[in-house]
Amino acid sequence: MNPSCSPVQMNAGILALKALTPAIFRLDLEASEIAEAIRPGQFVMIRSATGDDPLLGRPLAVYDVQRDSTGKAVSLSVVFQVFGKGTARLSQMREGDKVRIWGPLGHPFETTPPPGNIWFVAGGIGYTPFLALSKWWNGQGQFGPPIESPQISRNIDFLYGVRSASLIPPLEEFQNAGMNIEICTEDGSKGHKGRVTDLMTQRINNPDQPRPGLIVACGPEPMLAAVSKWSETHGLKCWVSLENQMACGFGACFSCVAPIRQADGSVDLRRVCLEGPIFDATSVAWHS
Ligand SMILES: Cc1cc2nc3c(=O)[nH]c(=O)nc-3n(C[C@H](O)[C@H](O)[C@H](O)COP(=O)(O)OP(=O)(O)OC[C@H]3O[C@@H](n4cnc5c(N)ncnc54)[C@H](O)[C@@H]3O)c2cc1C
Ligand code: FES
Repeated sequence: MNPSCSPVQMNAGILALKALTPAIFRLDLEASEIAEAIRPGQFVMIRSATGDDPLLGRPLAVYDVQRDSTGKAVSLSVVFQVFGKGTARLSQMREGDKVRIWGPLGHPFETTPPPGNIWFVAGGIGYTPFLALSKWWNGQGQFGPPIESPQISRNIDFLYGVRSASLIPPLEEFQNAGMNIEICTEDGSKGHKGRVTDLMTQRINNPDQPRPGLIVACGPEPMLAAVSKWSETHGLKCWVSLENQMACGFGACFSCVAPIRQADGSVDLRRVCLEGPIFDATSVAWHS
């Protein structure tokens, strides 16, 4: 994966905090230094700049970066789902409040993906890394430094699995970024009924659908394990972005380790914050 820039730590003002669904929020932050450096696939750690509960930041993927007319990055967006104490606290903050943020952390995606069409496969809140990634790979968005905009001309299909229609956040930006969106819900309330791997099977069996050259997946671990096994069965390359729980975010505490297969076939625990969060799916020794 690409090398990353040195992380910085700063207080950043909240430019906007908007509820996208009752449980999912978008946070726009005045963090130009990090916005200038961060690339799709990387993440930041965020906590309120005041108080000490919680003391630890929470890892959130870069959702998007905004640039001014001169091309200078001015702000950074993340999208989060309220899960526990840290994300609940963030959801209760207001415009003008300050958060403590450090990043960019982890390694970004490759600048240029392997040849062929691409399937982004997301489950639940695992959809957040894909807006920036699509914009980057199709030349609609600039991320750096150095500013790289590969402008590949590929079909990107966004296959999104959720439990029920009411949990789906607005996806207009995904549409505007040129992704073909297909939704599946477990209860059948929108799109295809079933799990995202059912949708993948339906598509691979359709002779009118080209086989993808790459699958990129993000979501809960059981889903990632299923997508990984499915991809291996069909002989397709798959990258996964892991969302292990983290405490420090920079390699000091070992709370984020995942079992990763090494070149000699052995399995070793590797720090997702430092070596990930993106891994080739075949290298992960899945628990489920
Ligand atoms: C690379 C990456 C990117 C992610 N991107 C997103 C995203 O874009 N959007 C999103 O919604 N979610 C994302 N997540 C998941 C998100 O980080 C978790 O949902 C969030 O951390 C939950 O925090 P919480 O405080 O709400 O929940 P909690 O359950 O209160 O805390 C979650 C975790 O924080 C740590 N923690 C809390 N207290 C302590 C303690 N006392 N000691 C040590 N550790 C502690 C632990 O790891 C704990 O399990 C991402 C995760 C990773 C790893
Ligand atoms: S979160 Fe501390 S080592 Fe990864």
